[in-house]
Amino acid sequence: MAVTCFPESGLLIILSVSVVLAMLPVPKNVRVTSINMGVVLEWDTTHPSSSNHTYTAEYRTSGLSRNFSTVCQDQTALRCDFTAVIVPYGIYTFRVRTESQGNTSRWARSAEFFPDRDTWIGAPAVKLTSTEGNIRVDIQNPVMKVKTLGEIYSRVAYHIRYWKQGKEGEVTVMNDMEQPGLLLNQLEDWSKYCVQAQVFIKHYNKSGEPSKATCETTTTDGKVEPREIAVVLVVSFLVVTVTVPLLFLMAWRCYRVLKFLFPTAKLPEHLKQYLMEPPHPWIFLVMQNSSQLEEQCHEVSIISESPLLEGERLCGHTEEQRGMMEGEEEQSQNENREVDKMQ
Ligand SMILES: *[C@@H]1O[C@H](CO)[C@@H](O)[C@H](O)[C@H]1NC(C)=O
Ligand SMILES: *[C@@H]1O[C@H](CO)[C@@H](O)[C@H](O)[C@H]1NC(C)=O
Ligand SMILES: *[C@@H]1O[C@H](CO)[C@@H](O)[C@H](O)[C@H]1NC(C)=O
Ligand SMILES: *[C@@H]1O[C@H](CO)[C@@H](O)[C@H](O)[C@H]1NC(C)=O
Repeated sequence: MAVTCFPESGLLIILSVSVVLAMLPVPKNVRVTSINMGVVLEWDTTHPSSSNHTYTAEYRTSGLSRNFSTVCQDQTALRCDFTAVIVPYGIYTFRVRTESQGNTSRWARSAEFFPDRDTWIGAPAVKLTSTEGNIRVDIQNPVMKVKTLGEIYSRVAYHIRYWKQGKEGEVTVMNDMEQPGLLLNQLEDWSKYCVQAQVFIKHYNKSGEPSKATCETTTTDGKVEPREIAVVLVVSFLVVTVTVPLLFLMAWRCYRVLKFLFPTAKLPEHLKQYLMEPPHPWIFLVMQNSSQLEEQCHEVSIISESPLLEGERLCGHTEEQRGMMEGEEEQSQNENREVDKMQ
């Protein structure tokens, strides 16, 4: 009741006087630290930490309510975590004051805070897989404390850098890549490549923290080099040029041997008939009567009418065979004569 008698200005004067008397230090350097949508208000104090000062921290969203809501109260820590009450698209104001034995300091306010714009996006996880001479890069978004990165931002892109280990000066940069995965190709075989990625939010021209360099060694791509093709061609050519004539030669020898064993020359028809006719019975009579049974053999040589081929002349077998045949023929002719004389 007494208070209502005072004019408002008088009350304010009394309050400010009491604050001055209390000499409680106003929190200094009030700041919002926000990583991956976690929101923490931090501040400093000029007062010795041995004092019994406590702090109260509050927040307010611009819009519906102008009232502040208390999140941290009577705490000695120089920080207050607001993550649980934050939504990504709000606009927040935070404030904090020092309190001690019923006395309070003035409020110290933070600047307006836009979680989606102002939060610091951490490093994504980068996984590398070496396949057929290429390296597959898979990027996994950092985990947000509120919602997911894809839910918060309609368009998430990535800055990707890669380099061959030992050649850090020659970095390939691929900015604003829309896909969280890509294939690095045209890499050298059996070389170690390192990749770094960071999230990029184009809407705010905002880059996240770069990941630590992840490295992977390429294998061979399985494709055949032109040099290897040439070697294979030369080797196959050599093999063919050696084996084909050899096979041909072998086939020719076989043919020659077969021809020698099974000559194409045919017995004359009358000779065949003579040989196939059964012997006359009188021969046996003569054989029985004659005291001296002398077996007489006549060798018959059959000489093919077809002219000898060029190659056959070169062949020793044929020459010998021919010579032998001729010799035998002469011999048989002699025998024939002898038989005639005897008869
Ligand atoms: C802090 O508070 C305790 C009691 O809660 C009191 O005994 C002590 O003297 C206080 N210290 C200071 C520096 O005010
Ligand atoms: C704001 O605070 C006033 C008094 O402290 C209270 O009457 C009012 O209901 C509050 N408004 C909201 C939206 O909380
Ligand atoms: C405020 O602090 C002063 C001295 O620092 C003390 O005398 C006074 O009792 C305090 N006020 C309250 C309400 O505790
Ligand atoms: C985006 O930010 C970079 C530095 O972070 C700056 O160099 C560039 O000019 C900015 N681009 C736009 C369109 O604001």
